[in-house]
Amino acid sequence: MDKDKIIILLNKDLEDEHAAIIQYLSHAYAIGEGEMACEIEAISREEMRHLDWLAEAIVELGGTPSLVRGKMLLEGKFVAKWMENNVFLEDGAIAQYKEHIKLTSDPMIKRLLRRILSDEEAHRDQFKRFVEKAKVEGVEDLRGIRQDKVIQLLNWAIEHEYTVILQYMFHSYMTTNKAAKKELEDQAINEMQHLGWLAEAIVDIGGSPMIEHTEIDQSIKNASMLRADIEIESEVAIEYDRAAKEFADPNLKKLLFRMRDHELYHDEIFSDLLKGGKHQIKD
Ligand SMILES: [Fe+2]
Ligand SMILES: [Fe+2]
Ligand SMILES: [Fe+2]
Repeated sequence: MDKDKIIILLNKDLEDEHAAIIQYLSHAYAIGEGEMACEIEAISREEMRHLDWLAEAIVELGGTPSLVRGKMLLEGKFVAKWMENNVFLEDGAIAQYKEHIKLTSDPMIKRLLRRILSDEEAHRDQFKRFVEKAKVEGVEDLRGIRQDKVIQLLNWAIEHEYTVILQYMFHSYMTTNKAAKKELEDQAINEMQHLGWLAEAIVDIGGSPMIEHTEIDQSIKNASMLRADIEIESEVAIEYDRAAKEFADPNLKKLLFRMRDHELYHDEIFSDLLKGGKHQIKD
């Protein structure tokens, strides 16, 4: 099989990992802070590592990591049904990885896919246990139907965070500058924290987190990437500052000021990379 075909297979796997990450995070946020939510979040983090390995392998082969999210299974009113959906998703992943292992001749790719497959088999077993656990323990969907301006702003913030996570990860895969790669990865991880805090805050005050993203900057030149990243950081810092001052709830105020400070930090880090410092970017 030639490189281009392998890249297509790996991108299909990557898109499905992306869907699994968001599906599992949605479940974890909806059921709150118990043991099961923590375990589901841990599974989601393993899917993030899979996505990361696949993206790096795609770039290594000369390809571009896909930003498309595969199909999610989010239907069902009860948590046990969600866990059944997750078993179904893992079954699909297992079948697909087995097929892709057979189709590829590249030994490094085969090894990587086998490594991921072993995780998916473990996840399937975990989710099978969670189907029973959800029934026995009566694990519930804690999301509410509140839909006022506060919830809208917090969901707007989630949309921003999800967008920059994908954007910084994409830029980190495509950049040729090592210092930029490291910073983009670090800041993407920080944005993942923000997304989690926002989703938990929404559920706490009786709303429902919407995990959707908006347009992602797909520049591949170092300077253009950083310019786009600086622009989005300075915009969101202003917006978080404004919202923090407006919010009455002291916890939400603190959360938004804290995120504003992080965004200002990101802005400065990216600006240093672009304008000066020891790792200055020229192209
Ligand atoms: Fe995975
Ligand atoms: Fe999995
Ligand atoms: Fe953020």
